[in-house]
Amino acid sequence: MGALSLKWKYIIFTLLILFIVLGGFFLYNLKYQERLIIEDDKERVELIAEIIKNGLITIMLEGRGKEFQKFLESLIAEDIKEVRIFRPSDGAILASSIPTEVGEKIYTLDMQRYMNQDQPEVFTRQGDGEPFYSMVVPIPNERPCQRCHRDDGEVRGVLDVEVSTRKTAGRISELRERTAVFSLLTFLSLAVALAILTTLLVNRPVEGIIRTMKKVEAGDLSVRFVTGRKDEIGRLAASLNSMLAELDKARQEIHRCHAEEMRHVERMATMGELAAALAHEIKNPLASISSAIQVISDDFGQDDPRREVIEDVVREIERLDKTVRDLLSFAKPSEPKRIYVDIRTLIERTVSLVKAQAEKQNIQLRVDYGKDVDGAVFDPQQIQQVMMNIILNAFHAMPGGGALQIGVRKVDETLQISLSDTGEGIPEKSLKSIFKPFFTTRHTGTGLGLAISRNIVEAHGGEIRVESQVGIGSTFKIILPA
Ligand SMILES: Nc1ncnc2c1ncn2[C@@H]1O[C@H](COP(=O)(O)OP(=O)(O)OP(=O)(O)O)[C@@H](O)[C@H]1O
Ligand SMILES: [Mg+2]
Repeated sequence: MGALSLKWKYIIFTLLILFIVLGGFFLYNLKYQERLIIEDDKERVELIAEIIKNGLITIMLEGRGKEFQKFLESLIAEDIKEVRIFRPSDGAILASSIPTEVGEKIYTLDMQRYMNQDQPEVFTRQGDGEPFYSMVVPIPNERPCQRCHRDDGEVRGVLDVEVSTRKTAGRISELRERTAVFSLLTFLSLAVALAILTTLLVNRPVEGIIRTMKKVEAGDLSVRFVTGRKDEIGRLAASLNSMLAELDKARQEIHRCHAEEMRHVERMATMGELAAALAHEIKNPLASISSAIQVISDDFGQDDPRREVIEDVVREIERLDKTVRDLLSFAKPSEPKRIYVDIRTLIERTVSLVKAQAEKQNIQLRVDYGKDVDGAVFDPQQIQQVMMNIILNAFHAMPGGGALQIGVRKVDETLQISLSDTGEGIPEKSLKSIFKPFFTTRHTGTGLGLAISRNIVEAHGGEIRVESQVGIGSTFKIILPA
């Protein structure tokens, strides 16, 4: 049943129901008609018997009793089989359409039937191979009869008429044939009508939809399912078409975005090359300038006011150097060199690097390790750079002091390092931008710290998340595959 098409499932199911209902109805009707035919024929037999009885009485009243035998013999027609008169007291046959029978006794069965019946009845009995109706009618001893017969009220003779059932059988078999042909025709025409109707109303449109979907599957989103119908199929077609239109639009949009993205990536790649080249060009002269300044400052005495200017220049050179390094690291990120790292040792080393700065800024540092925290495989230098970026950002966010909480946890298959500060927080609208290169709110910042950090963590197959509330603080979470 599973592999059958919808159409055939529907047709077979409906026909099955029709077959049961119509079949039941036809069968019931057939039985009813058959009963009517039999009743009808029985009445006919009764009538025949009555007519014969009256004929006999007339013959008797006319005093032609001797003609009984001849009269009975003349009655035999195509369906009147036998007619006889017998004496009820001993069953002796008085006259019969079969002359040889006269003087013999009737069957005890016929006798019993006569004894037990008050009213004339019709019987069906298996006789000489062919079934026939048999009717026994007492001939009453009424007043006119008593001119010859004694007035003792006794029945003197019983008429027994046998009529063939051949006609009834013929009518019934004709009825059956007609019913069979009629029901077959009804059933066939219903089946054909149903098949045509399902094909037109369901099959065609469904196949149309399937064809449309096949084309869509093959990648053609411009196809539409055209139907002039206003019913459910029409509505389905309308939804399908509008869905296809939406899909088509979405795909064009994706193509457009993709092309734009590609252009952007290409541009960024060129910019990256440019930035890297530029940074390289600046790095070496910067180193020369730095050592030259060192030489010049050696010539100045301890109290020389020009020393302050020199220190300013050195600070600016350092800043320039950091910017150049950041630019280089962002434009040309190096592949992570993965080794097994004990995370506790790495965190302690990082904390020791910023301890002095924290004390100076009145910032409390706390580290909290979850259980099971041991080590993981990653590039320790790069991950330390990420933590340093985040810690220094936190320090910048807490100019008046505060607290920085570092937590390390193992969650499922990841190592999670969270860094929470009690700084100024990041406004909602900036949250989307802080990881973009060159986004900064500090006049001495380059805005590359978090961009570089995210590149590093993603190169490790991990991610950085941030949560922040203005006035309360920020939490950065570094998630690395363990
Ligand atoms: N913990 C924090 N609290 C508040 N703001 C933060 C925090 N961390 C980052 N920010 C915001 O995100 C911006 C971008 O940070 P990012 O580290 O990328 O650049 P930067 O610190 O400004 O410059 P640099 O390149 O020197 O690091 C910062 O300018 C700051 O506005
Ligand atoms: Mg920073």
